[in-house]
Amino acid sequence: MRADRHGGAGAPATPAPAWWRRAVVYQVYIRSFADASGDGIGDIAGIQSRLAYLRDLGVDALWVNPWYPSPMVDGGYDVADYRAIDPLFGALDDARRLIEEAHAHGLRVLGDIVPNHTSSEHAWFREALASAPGSAARDRYVFRDGRGPRGEEAPNNWPSVFGGRAWTRAASPHRHPAQWYLHLFDPGQPDLNWENAEVRAEFESIVRFWLDLGLDGFRIDVAHGLAKDAALPDLAAGADPWTPADDHPFWGQDGTHDVYRAWRRIAEASGSDRVFIGEIGPMGPDGQARLARYLRPDELHQAFNFDFLRSPWDALKLRSVIDATLAPLVEVGAPATWVLSNHDVVRHVTRYGRAYSGLEIWEPWVERQATELALGTRRARAAILLMLALPGAAYVYQGEELGLWEVEDLPEELLQDPTWERSGHEYRGRDGCRVPIPWSGTAPPFGFGKTGTVPWLPQPAEWGRVAVEIQAGAAGSMLELYRAALRLRRGHPGLAGEELRWLPSPAGTLLFERAAGLRCAVNLSEGPWELPPATTVILASDPPADGLLAPDAAAWYVRQPASSAVRHTLREERS
Ligand code: GLC
Repeated sequence: MRADRHGGAGAPATPAPAWWRRAVVYQVYIRSFADASGDGIGDIAGIQSRLAYLRDLGVDALWVNPWYPSPMVDGGYDVADYRAIDPLFGALDDARRLIEEAHAHGLRVLGDIVPNHTSSEHAWFREALASAPGSAARDRYVFRDGRGPRGEEAPNNWPSVFGGRAWTRAASPHRHPAQWYLHLFDPGQPDLNWENAEVRAEFESIVRFWLDLGLDGFRIDVAHGLAKDAALPDLAAGADPWTPADDHPFWGQDGTHDVYRAWRRIAEASGSDRVFIGEIGPMGPDGQARLARYLRPDELHQAFNFDFLRSPWDALKLRSVIDATLAPLVEVGAPATWVLSNHDVVRHVTRYGRAYSGLEIWEPWVERQATELALGTRRARAAILLMLALPGAAYVYQGEELGLWEVEDLPEELLQDPTWERSGHEYRGRDGCRVPIPWSGTAPPFGFGKTGTVPWLPQPAEWGRVAVEIQAGAAGSMLELYRAALRLRRGHPGLAGEELRWLPSPAGTLLFERAAGLRCAVNLSEGPWELPPATTVILASDPPADGLLAPDAAAWYVRQPASSAVRHTLREERS
C-alpha cells in the first residue's frame, strides 16, 4: 500500500493537491548509488537495500537514471532495448520488486525515458544500417545524403553536444555514396525520426509497458529535442547552437508538443497520479515562457529549471530567476521545479566554492578553477534552505545531502564520459559528479559495495569523513540539515500552498514569506544581517547569534510577539 501523505485525520475539505506538485524527488544515479552484486557498479538490489535511508531522509519519490540494456557509451543514455534491464543492474523482476517495495515505504518511483535517440546497437538501427537508403527501416532515423559531389560532406553544419559534428557517415552496402545519420550526441546515439508514425507508436507502447509495471512516471531525456526542422537547414552563422529559440532547427520545435499530448493521455488513462518531468533547456532569456508551453494542462506535468541551477550565488540574479520561473507558470497552472545538481553538472558545493561568473559555473567542462570547499559547503547549506522553501517540486541529486563535492582529479585513463574523447581530450566531462557515494567505513568502497569491491570510479579518501554513517545523528551535519528541512517541508503549514511574497530586505539578501507567516531569509552579502526582533528561528544553515544572520547563511523563521519569542537553534529543533 502506498502511504497517503496528504491525508490527515478526517476528510479534507478540498481535494489534496496532486502529490507531484510539491514533491521532493531524489535522483538515483544507479551506477553509483549502491552495489549489491559486488562488481563495482551500483544496481537495483543496491537501491532496494537503501530504501529505508531514502524514506528516513524524507523524500517523496526517486528518479532512477536509465537502467536498460546498453553498450554504456553514454552511461546508459544509449538504450539498446527499452523493455528490459541491463544485466549489470539486475532483471525486470528486480525492477518490479523495487517498485513494489518502494511503494510499501511510501516512495514513488520515476523511470528515465530516452526518446530522442536509441543506441546504435538497438535492433532498429542495425536494421537501418543493413537496409537501403529510402527504406522504411532507415526512415525511423534521420539518414540523409551528404553534400559535395560524392556526398562526402555532412548534410548540414549541426554540432554534437559532445563535440565534433552531429553526423556520421554510415558504411552502406547498397549504393555509393553512402548516407550520413544524425546524432545530436554520440555517434552511438542515432537520433530517431519523430515524423515517423512507427516511432511514435513504439514509444507510446514503451510508456504503457512501464506504467503497467508500476512506475509512477518518467523523467524525459532531452525532452525538447525530438522534432527537427524537416528541411534540416544549417544553423545560422552566429546562432547559439545550445539554446532553444523560435527558429532553432533542432531544439524546441513545435512538433514535440503532440508527442507529449499523447503521453499525457496515456498517463491519465493509467491513473491520475502519474507524472512526466521534461529535461528541457536551458531555455535562454525569454525561455521560461517557452518552457511553460510544454507544461500546458494536456502536456507535461513539470520541467527541470536549469536557470535556477545555473544562477550564480547572487541575490539579484537568484531573485530574478525565481520571479521569471513563477510568473509564466501561473497561466498554465503547472508547479515550478527547483534543482541544484544532477549527473550532468559540476556538484554545487564545488561550483559555489569558486570565484565564478555567470553561466560558466554550469558547464561540466568548465576550466578548472581554484575551489574553496568550505565556502562552497556553507553556501550549499544555505542554498538547500532556499530551494526547499520555494513553492513547487524540488529535485535532490544523490550525495548532495552529504555535501559531496566534484571529484576533479580522476585519472584520465578512467574517464568514461564521451565528452572526453569527442572533445579531443579538451574537456574532462561529467564523471566527477558521478563517483559512487560513501555510506560507511573509513576506506573505499565506503559501504558502496562489499569490502574489497572496486568502484567503477575511485572515491576520494576524504569521503570517509562525510559518509552517511558519520553524518547520521551528528548535530550540524549536512545530512541532518537535509533531514530537518525535509521534515519541516512536509509538516509545517508555512510550507504548504504555492504562494510566495517578497519582503523588503537589504542589498545582497533575499527575504520572502510563504504561508502562516513563515519566512525564508538568505544572506548572500558580505556582512551579517540583523533579523527583525521577536523572531523564532525554525531552522538555519548556521544558527543566527544575537539575531545576526551570518554571510552565506539562510534561516526559516516566524515572527512572534516579543513576549513569546524563543530563539531556537538547529539543535533545539531536532530535539
Ligand atoms: C541528457 C542526460 C545526459 C545525456 C544526454 C544524452 O542530457 O541527462 O546525461 O548524456 O541527455 O542522452
